[in-house]
Amino acid sequence: MAKKKRKRKFKRIVKIFLGLLIVIVLVLLYLNINNKDIILKNDLTIELGSDIKVSDIIESSKYKVINKEDKIDTSKLGNKEITIKYKKNNKNNSYIVKIKIIDSEKPVISTEEEINVTIGSNAKIEDMIDVSDNSGDDIDISIDGDYDLKKKGEYQVTIIATDSSGNKSSKKVKINVLDNLDYNADGSLIDGIYTTNKGYTVKIQNGVASINDIIIVNKTYSLPSTYTPKKPYKSIAGRGYCTDCMEDFVVEAFLKMKDDASREGLKLWVGSGFRSYDTQKMLYNNYVNKDGKEAADTYSARAGYSEHQSGLCFDLNSDSDAFTNTKEGKWVNDNAYKYGFVIRFPKNKEEYTGYEYESWHLRYVGEELAKKLYNNGDWISLEEYFGITSKYPD
Ligand code: DAL
Ligand code: ZN
Repeated sequence: MAKKKRKRKFKRIVKIFLGLLIVIVLVLLYLNINNKDIILKNDLTIELGSDIKVSDIIESSKYKVINKEDKIDTSKLGNKEITIKYKKNNKNNSYIVKIKIIDSEKPVISTEEEINVTIGSNAKIEDMIDVSDNSGDDIDISIDGDYDLKKKGEYQVTIIATDSSGNKSSKKVKINVLDNLDYNADGSLIDGIYTTNKGYTVKIQNGVASINDIIIVNKTYSLPSTYTPKKPYKSIAGRGYCTDCMEDFVVEAFLKMKDDASREGLKLWVGSGFRSYDTQKMLYNNYVNKDGKEAADTYSARAGYSEHQSGLCFDLNSDSDAFTNTKEGKWVNDNAYKYGFVIRFPKNKEEYTGYEYESWHLRYVGEELAKKLYNNGDWISLEEYFGITSKYPD
């Protein structure tokens, strides 16, 4: 009997304890939700990336909010806890508020209304779509409509871009499946994706051609007249041709090569680096006046077709045939590839490059590709390697 009674009593105590616990939790919750010291704004959903402060989520406050000027980080989607700190009866209080960062902005599709692709290309149209979004997350691209990259023609499709919050935008574009490259009336390239004879993909974006991120400039692939290097190196004083305007990584690689060469008693310097469209125009015209157009075209590029405008190449030392058999010329021929440079117009490769041999003209392509083109001393041209032409458009 006594045992049963004790058990019942224990059960009652447990019940009372649990009841009290629930009441305490409810009171705490009530206090937290209904903090009358601070009245919050009705809507605590905030747009991603918006510039807001703690004070922006408060409707009114009986007390002085200490951190009202603090910025709220709105750079990430989802729920977030914000602590509002305030002074009440000379004591520091804090109140935790839940807000939600949302994204209701649609992605922006900036691709042109026409996309050019060469027939048989294995390019993915989805990869050619330029799209940006405030979220910074990956954007899903899908294409509504039929098209066939194996059949010449024009295909009207709709590009649909969806961000991670489900915001969608769409744009009608025409896919032109073409035989070959397309040029504007001024000779500049029209954006598109093309397949080379060796199956590489040439991407032309903003009028600049590249294969696997290697910019291509030759008689087929021009640069826009306004093109200049993206991140020019600044600390070498210009030497007539604005040497210091080459891309910084090209100069860094050159300096490394120059230092190593100088340890072997050799002297390398850049005679001509970046050349603007206008400088090239002047140079080419001078050569035409001197030797005639046909001859000039074998050794000098027309304005807009010179690799020098890319800031990715330079002419060494005397930039003439005299360089080829110097100690420096021989060393460069055997070692430049180790620094990511290629002899851009190798000996006996005129039919591919469109230019006579230039032992002094080095082009930066990165160490991996440079080693392949060095080909154990039997240089091959960029044109042969990628299966591209170097011929002026008719
Ligand atoms: N000498 C090279 C081909 C140029 O003019 O760019
Ligand atoms: Zn050159």
